Amino acid sequence: MVAEATLALGKYWHPIGRSEDVTDKPARFRLLDDFVVAFRHEGQLAVFKDMCVHRGAALSLGWVKDGTLVCPYHGWQYDTDGRCVRIPSRPENQPIPELAHAVAYRSQERYGLVWVAMEEPELDIPPFPDDCFDAEGWTSFLSYKEVWQTSAARTIENFMDFSHFPYVHPGLLGTEENAEVEPYKVVKTDDGLRYVFEQVEPSDLYGKGGTAVVEYEYIIHMPFFIHLKKRVKETDETTIITLVTTPLTEHTSELYVWIVRNHSHDTPDAEFGDFTVQIMQQDHPVVESQRPEGIPDSLKEELHLMPADNASLVYRQKLLKMAKVEPLGPYGA
Ligand code: FES
Ligand code: CO
Repeated sequence: MVAEATLALGKYWHPIGRSEDVTDKPARFRLLDDFVVAFRHEGQLAVFKDMCVHRGAALSLGWVKDGTLVCPYHGWQYDTDGRCVRIPSRPENQPIPELAHAVAYRSQERYGLVWVAMEEPELDIPPFPDDCFDAEGWTSFLSYKEVWQTSAARTIENFMDFSHFPYVHPGLLGTEENAEVEPYKVVKTDDGLRYVFEQVEPSDLYGKGGTAVVEYEYIIHMPFFIHLKKRVKETDETTIITLVTTPLTEHTSELYVWIVRNHSHDTPDAEFGDFTVQIMQQDHPVVESQRPEGIPDSLKEELHLMPADNASLVYRQKLLKMAKVEPLGPYGA
């Protein structure tokens, strides 16, 4: 399997939670098989490994005092940079040891989420097409947040895959009569891949009755961020459904889905999002059933059928290439 260690996932930004989940009370979040603690003080965000360097207690059991995070065990106090600024048991003439420093991670807020990179990041947090997330004429909201028992890569690959539409989403995204996939071109980009396909859909979805030609543009940013830009060709109504998946552990993932649209502004977000939530709920058990939970670490494993699996194959190639970044992994020289 393409294991996390070999992908060096610490070198990418991952969301740990919504902005409102991080307050002036320290809270614990899972990330990459570990735990982090996050809190704010006077608008400043701080995220550390959830472990005190003194005796390993979880800092998330502590509290914030005078702008510092107090360890619940012996009261060591860490400022928002992670520096230990007070050790209550320390004799006054003894300096605070230099190594008394929480393991502090880079953090920032974007699209209403708190993002963390455990190591020097290789890539930025991906943009939205035309920066539409905050643009005038567009409505954005977080539609779905759920933990799935599978690898992050499986969730992204599912989101990329449209040949399952007639089977997992019959009548909603496809029909059995239209199951055949026409050849489509996958373009490799600096940090991922993109491809476009069109299909005729029952247009009840678009409130018009009859059918509509819908263009699907997929934009994938490695490792776990994907936009699906759906455009009704006739009307230019565009809906961008974006998934980012956080690897909580190797086989536990948290999915965040935003919906950004340039139409139907009067429809309440929750109502507009119902359709996508329903699609995600249909995918959920099928994707959790996939074995192995991770994507195999060789393109020779599992069967690929062209042209339907073209995009997923390119995604796998890219993941495997990323995995080689880690020289100690099984893909190393
Ligand atoms: Fe944190 Fe001792 S374990 S102060
Ligand atoms: Co699906």
